[in-house]
Amino acid sequence: MNESDKLRLIEAAVEARQGAVAPYSKFKVGAALLLPDGGILTGANVESASYGLTCCAERVALFKALTSGHREFQAIAVVARVKGGPMPCGACRQLLAEYAPNAAVFVADVTRPKNIRRFRLEKLLPLAFRGETHLMGKPSLSKTGGGRE
Ligand code: THU
Repeated sequence: MNESDKLRLIEAAVEARQGAVAPYSKFKVGAALLLPDGGILTGANVESASYGLTCCAERVALFKALTSGHREFQAIAVVARVKGGPMPCGACRQLLAEYAPNAAVFVADVTRPKNIRRFRLEKLLPLAFRGETHLMGKPSLSKTGGGRE
């Protein structure tokens, strides 16, 4: 992935962050997924008065992408107004490890969008629980086998 894709992805996450619905924490997060063809899909966090129902920006973006039929991801960018950028929570790491295991993870502080840190999912969630290794049979993650039949 080239430098311009990386910056484009961070910019898309910064833009998506404007859509955050975070009336409780006021902590707005934006996420953007890079598809193999260079396309970008975004998300932002949505909070609930029943706090535990809150959904992070990463999962909103991932669920949008998965339910639109996408199965391959080059990278995900996550941004918030926090020093060094926001680190994905454990729940998001799990879902990313399952559905976007090869994606590079970029994080940045929205106030310093060119200061980007890069992580690998294997590093963020070592020895992840995965359908292929922990459950019976091999789950089909293809577009048809994954739930469209
Ligand atoms: N949040 C995200 O959207 N992504 C992260 O990586 C960390 C946390 C959200 C959830 C909640 O709306 C707010 O940030 C505070 O936890």
